Amino acid sequence: MANLLLLSGPNLNMLGSREPEIYGSRTLDDIERDLQARAEAAGSRLECYRSNAEHELVERIQAAASDASEVLIINPAALGHTSIALRDALAGCGKPFIEIHISNIYAREPFRHHSYLSDIAAGCIVGLGTYGYELALAAALKLGSGAAD
Ligand code: DQA
Repeated sequence: MANLLLLSGPNLNMLGSREPEIYGSRTLDDIERDLQARAEAAGSRLECYRSNAEHELVERIQAAASDASEVLIINPAALGHTSIALRDALAGCGKPFIEIHISNIYAREPFRHHSYLSDIAAGCIVGLGTYGYELALAAALKLGSGAAD
């Protein structure tokens, strides 16, 4: 049993209609529902939180420091490339997190090649489309169970 938290950053609420050639056709609702069902089937719980606002994500991460969340999965969206505040919140939270990007940020514009989160993440999943969320969940379940390898 693990308590997991999925965080989604700006513009991910537009998945499905937003640049489908890059991000695919699934909505964030589809992704969250599917992941929650998979977490429950594994005897765990997944809370989903999304915001377009940097400060709201920072506040949710701060709260995660002392709530039941054991492992965080975060698609920071564009904030991964810009936000030292998000990095500081995750570093201060003390809970392991997995960074995910739907697209291969290293094969896109140079300004997407750097993430302020990657070097402090437990692991990163990029470029595998929304399938990456399934992989992130599997990894988070493993981290939550305390399994090292
Ligand atoms: C993204 C990649 C970011 O560069 C972009 O700003 C996003 C989505 C992805 O999931 O591929 O909003 O995080």
